Amino acid sequence: MSFTFPNGFVWGTATAAHQVEGGTWNNDWWEFEHAPGSPAVEPAGDACDHFWRYPSDIAMLADFGFGAYRFSLEWSRIEPDEGEFSRSALDHYRRMCATTREAGLIPVVTFHHFTTPRWAVTNGGWTDPAIVDRFARFCEVAVAALGDDIGMACTINEPNIVSLMGHMVGVFPPGHSDLGEYAAANENLKAAHRKGYDAIKSGPGDFPVGSCVAMGDWWAPDGAEGVLAQTREMHEGQHLAAAAGDDFIGVQAYSRTRLSAEGLPEGPEPGIEVLDMGYEYWPNALEVSIRYAADVTASPVYVTENGIGTTDDAQRIRYVTDALGGVRRCLDDGLDVRGYFYWSLLDNFEWVLGYRPRFGLVGVDRVTQVRTPKPSAAWLGEIARTNTLE
Ligand code: GAL
Repeated sequence: MSFTFPNGFVWGTATAAHQVEGGTWNNDWWEFEHAPGSPAVEPAGDACDHFWRYPSDIAMLADFGFGAYRFSLEWSRIEPDEGEFSRSALDHYRRMCATTREAGLIPVVTFHHFTTPRWAVTNGGWTDPAIVDRFARFCEVAVAALGDDIGMACTINEPNIVSLMGHMVGVFPPGHSDLGEYAAANENLKAAHRKGYDAIKSGPGDFPVGSCVAMGDWWAPDGAEGVLAQTREMHEGQHLAAAAGDDFIGVQAYSRTRLSAEGLPEGPEPGIEVLDMGYEYWPNALEVSIRYAADVTASPVYVTENGIGTTDDAQRIRYVTDALGGVRRCLDDGLDVRGYFYWSLLDNFEWVLGYRPRFGLVGVDRVTQVRTPKPSAAWLGEIARTNTLE
């Protein structure tokens, strides 16, 4: 059986600055990784040295057959201190956009992917409403320099993970666990998305702009439907609603969350395969998420992230095949799904878990930085090239 995706369906891979560039020392994550007692198992360090190696990485991506590359701007490079902008950092990202285009790929630029400059965090971080104008000003300056070369933009990557992991679970900076902070961060992240969106839209260039929300499948025992709906609304719904009316909604889905009758996370169901991330092998998460996002926002959907952290590349191929089957069912039902970005191009720094989870289509030697494509790279590249899933 084979399925051909709609004409113009965009196939890409995604990365984020702190996870691949190396040397991103001026942000809150770097500080968090080095703090005494940090839950982060290791620092990002040189990461994949992508700051210097992006030309060959992008060339490799194009050779595989992809049509787009999603990467992020490192705010702390562009605005190393409050109101002080680096022309050299902006030029770097301009070259990245140009290199991406010259390779025949659409540059998809994320303005904030988990990392915030140290100065902005010292002065209040995401719980202080001042962050909204700070982020909007950064967007305004960045888009003025890059806008005419951007192909598509995401404002804030997974705002709901920034608030949840940073202010409730405490395994992302600032490492707090405080319901009041969690609520404040959510409000500021939603407002920053809106203001950032407007700033990007008012700059040069004419390209789609959207938000990227962390989503997944959800389960709770019978009788706990209310708790389930409430949790889903708190985690996903409010951020989807804040993105309604945007040019698109970015869906990012990996797995399923099981809740107890009280709404607490239950962990994997016995008998279901558990991945290196500690969650279930659950490719169906993508289909469920696309449907929910389309329902809440009524916007066109791009899968801006989907993937699996595994050392078993055959399992990766199986996972993506299953997940794409879900995309296909959505398309068959008439949903407007416009693209799929695999997370990630390279094995990279997986936040608090360090370099152990292997999401890449390409392996990276941690000492020599030598890249070794896995079979899944050619496999997914061929799907991208033919726009067809066999
Ligand atoms: C997302 C995140 C990425 C990457 C991925 C794999 O939540 O945006 O940066 O880490 O998960 O876990």
